[in-house]
Amino acid sequence: MVFRFGRVVYCLAIAGFAWLIVAPAGCSGTITPASLEGAYTYQDFNQPDACSACHQNIHQDWSNSLMALSFVHQWDDVEYFQLALPHARKLDEVSGIKSGCIACHGPLAYLAGDIPPAEPSAGTRVNEGVSCEVCHSITGSTGQEPFNFSVTMDVGDTKYGPRDDAFSTFHQSQYSGFTISSRLCATCHDEQNPYGAWVKETYQEWKDSSCSSENILCQDCHMGSAPGISAPGGKQRDDIAVHTFYGPHSENWLKGAASIKLTTDRPEARAGWTITIYADVINDSCGHYFPTGSTEERMLWLELWITDAAGQRYHLPCLAKGFEGEEYTIADSFATAYGDLGEIMEIAGFEGLSRDGDIPDGARIFRRPFFNPQGDMTICQWYTAENSLVNYRLAPGKPVTETYFYRVPDGLSYGTITVEADLYYALVPSSIGDFFGLPESEFKPLLIDHQSLTLSIVDWG
Ligand code: HEC
Ligand code: HEC
Ligand code: HEC
Ligand code: HEC
Ligand code: HEC
Repeated sequence: MVFRFGRVVYCLAIAGFAWLIVAPAGCSGTITPASLEGAYTYQDFNQPDACSACHQNIHQDWSNSLMALSFVHQWDDVEYFQLALPHARKLDEVSGIKSGCIACHGPLAYLAGDIPPAEPSAGTRVNEGVSCEVCHSITGSTGQEPFNFSVTMDVGDTKYGPRDDAFSTFHQSQYSGFTISSRLCATCHDEQNPYGAWVKETYQEWKDSSCSSENILCQDCHMGSAPGISAPGGKQRDDIAVHTFYGPHSENWLKGAASIKLTTDRPEARAGWTITIYADVINDSCGHYFPTGSTEERMLWLELWITDAAGQRYHLPCLAKGFEGEEYTIADSFATAYGDLGEIMEIAGFEGLSRDGDIPDGARIFRRPFFNPQGDMTICQWYTAENSLVNYRLAPGKPVTETYFYRVPDGLSYGTITVEADLYYALVPSSIGDFFGLPESEFKPLLIDHQSLTLSIVDWG
């Protein structure tokens, strides 16, 4: 299994995590999907180049996707080699992540028992990432619901895929219902860490959404299909699977993920009045929460800006709702977090980094903070003991309303006031990006939606 913890996993099965109740393994005992660690050698797997000789378009799309980069991508490299691996070597509780991370990020190394693998610069086969052979050799899961790479595999001549009438001279082909189900994705996109915390649960979120009941799968949104052939000599088909795996690293794709509706109780106002502004934010196109996946580090936030009649522009703080842990969802430039980086990297006197990076004070952050065993906020998902205290993200299709009060300055008798709402997303907080020297593309804010409205100041005097 991926994480071998001989200790009893404490129960996280609270309301909303219904499947843990159905799958009692998650509640009562140790979770031990069968281990394929070291079950194969690198030579058992064809290189993606061998497939590109025929499946050229598929190979092209895949190689530009994060699947192909899952080991070499800079932030993954940093997190594994500078944080997780040193941590695994000094803290028993997390020693299993040495191979655990690699099962999903460098599956060939995990399957070949090459743990820890060489760094990306060495150019070994772990760099192939989530390769063609990985997905097309998976036949199912050892558990009722897949997670932590709990797969069964048949590695060899047969490629498992969506067709029951595929014929190739190079390999055998076999239809697999598992390949075309969301459970294939769940094997890596749901993750339970050594402390028993569910640190990724995109599949579970999807199962709880209407997409699941309407049978709209992960593949339907993240892969899609196009007419054509998948290889020379293959059949002409209307729906050849596309392997782009678009996600938050593809700006244009991310842009449509959510939208804002801006309204006010008083489009016309008078000096001295307090106006209420509402921003409804809705996740309109994800079949899971937004953000999902690596929620320990994803940032999604709403800024509300006022430009008054004199042309002055300033940021309005959101109105607090009063739920437990809400302070983690409202940007605060004085708040620090991530102090455990100092412990892991052995930096004496390290006091943490800015929790929210450059986000303006008072902006609402749609996030799910993770806390380490000391109760401090962390971006180390493997070192997370608690992450269900606050879950203030956008559920699919359900609007979240943020409220703002604005007092029209005294003495104004006419003019207009502009209200602007901006929804931004960043892969990691800017403080983390700066600290690790990541390329700016890894943490620059991306505008997801912008809306504005104008208030008229009237003098009924
Ligand atoms: C010599 C050409 C050739 C090479 C090389 C090749 N394939 Fe194929 N593959 C085909 C053809 C032809 C089909 C059938 C296409 C069709 O009927 O639409 C096919 C079908 C498939 C299917 C669909 C199977 C199904 O039943 O749904 C998968 C998956 C697949 N190939 C994976 C791979 C992988 C992975 C590699 C590299 C290890 C690879 N192929 C290398 C020619 C090739
Ligand atoms: C209805 C379309 C839809 C379905 C179904 C869907 N997704 Fe998504 N997914 C999106 C959109 C849009 C985004 C971009 C917003 C975001 O990053 O969360 C996204 C983002 C993601 C991300 C990136 C999260 C991040 O911010 O890092 C992952 C990973 C992901 N989806 C995996 C899955 C998996 C696995 C499934 C099935 C269990 C699935 N998706 C089902 C539309 C969908
Ligand atoms: C993350 C898993 C994953 C990876 C990596 C992956 N595939 Fe696929 N592939 C799929 C899934 C899922 C489908 C079926 C999608 C569907 O029909 O909904 C598929 C379908 C196919 C098909 C059948 C196309 C058709 O529609 O007839 C071929 C051929 C194929 N893949 C080849 C490859 C090759 C070659 C690579 C590497 C360059 C690759 N795949 C990498 C998951 C993957
Ligand atoms: C063998 C493990 C594995 C399987 C199976 C898998 N993924 Fe992933 N996926 C990953 C890893 C690892 C990453 C993160 C890559 C990174 O950030 O370096 C990822 C990232 C993604 C992303 C984010 C892309 C971005 O722009 O950031 C999407 C979307 C995604 N996967 C969709 C899917 C879908 C859909 C399936 C099922 C058809 C699937 N994955 C199956 C391991 C897997
Ligand atoms: C169960 C499979 C799995 C395991 C185990 C796993 N990851 Fe991941 N990891 C993923 C997937 C899938 C994503 C993409 C999720 C998303 O895009 O939100 C991801 C995303 C990431 C990212 C974010 C990359 C980005 O796009 O910003 C980093 C960094 C990372 N993983 C490092 C690690 C480290 C270090 C470990 C071990 C402590 C680990 N992962 C364990 C599957 C896994």
